[in-house]
Amino acid sequence: MSRVQPRGASGYVGDDTIVLGIETSCDETAAALVAGGTDVLSSVVSSQVDLHAQYGGVVPEVASRAHLDLLNPVIARAIVEAGVQDSSIGAVAATIGPGLIGALLVGVSAGKALALTWDVPFVGVNHMEAHLYATFLEDPTLELPMVVLLVSGGHTMLVEMRDHGSYRLLGQTIDDAAGEAFDKVARFLGLGYPGGPAIDKAAAGGDPTAIDFPRAMLNDGLDFSFSGLKTSVMNYVRKFPEVTTADVAASFQAAVVDVLVAKSRRAGQQVGARALALGGGVAANSLLRERFLDACSADGRQCHLPTPSMCTDNAAMIASVGWHRLRSDGPTPLDAAAHPNLCLPFAVDR
Ligand code: KG4
Ligand code: ZN
Repeated sequence: MSRVQPRGASGYVGDDTIVLGIETSCDETAAALVAGGTDVLSSVVSSQVDLHAQYGGVVPEVASRAHLDLLNPVIARAIVEAGVQDSSIGAVAATIGPGLIGALLVGVSAGKALALTWDVPFVGVNHMEAHLYATFLEDPTLELPMVVLLVSGGHTMLVEMRDHGSYRLLGQTIDDAAGEAFDKVARFLGLGYPGGPAIDKAAAGGDPTAIDFPRAMLNDGLDFSFSGLKTSVMNYVRKFPEVTTADVAASFQAAVVDVLVAKSRRAGQQVGARALALGGGVAANSLLRERFLDACSADGRQCHLPTPSMCTDNAAMIASVGWHRLRSDGPTPLDAAAHPNLCLPFAVDR
């Protein structure tokens, strides 16, 4: 007999339904158990960073094979750490896109197989929507409308969240994502992979005003551009090789953060946001967090900075969106395909 009795879409999850979340879109293999969409019972993340570091970036085929090896033990650990029996899991959620297709397929196939075995609903989760939900997981009291600055390795966007599941795209990068800029500049400076944390660390010992790198499109709308900044850094270092890496890292980081914070403030003002929040891997950046908080208190808005482990890829955020999506839309059919280029479901485009 099915453990969850369908009574229309909202009947698929109850207030305390435990959802197993699975995340394999890129280079983290993660599983988590979350009850009622917000109560994190366990969250296990196995990073493949060391595996990819030798290549200077994520190698898709290596990532897929590592997910295959790691996923079952990671899921088993998440269940043990939560201290529950398999039989109390009421639904399975897995990232269905965007991401690396081979990597996504591992998590989606495992999620569907477990849902079928346990006779519970399966739900495919949009990875970007999950980064937005990481904010609610930690602070369910956040007031809407809220503007979220989503800054990861593949995306940089400002999203207005009007209601649960209702988004409007306010601005996005026209070239490189912020995380991509951090990774490329770090590689150029010989700081290794992943570049964001390495630049963050190197910048701590440098002078952010040492070099006046360009702040592209600072006073112009809500879109971003980071590829010119990356080129400026390279040109500067080639011209002045005696410059210290710490000063370059600090000045580059200050240029990125200036633009991210200025546009987030403008977006908040434009939509009359009650709260501003960060999401995605770059939200772990120490300067961005400090400046974002200052900006929110100056503008009188609620501010949410997810803890760094909730900014980077994890499965608790997947389970959380899975719970909300099961409640609003019901399960995803088991023949649904993974989508490497899946977009956020924007209710209204700008
Ligand atoms: O969200 P995420 O874990 O994966 C994607 O979905 O892309 O984001 C990874 C990105 C990488 O580009 C990484 O360099 C960046 O987040 N990142 C940081 C920091 N920690 C991670 N960027 C700047 N400062 C950090 N402390
Ligand atoms: Zn991510």
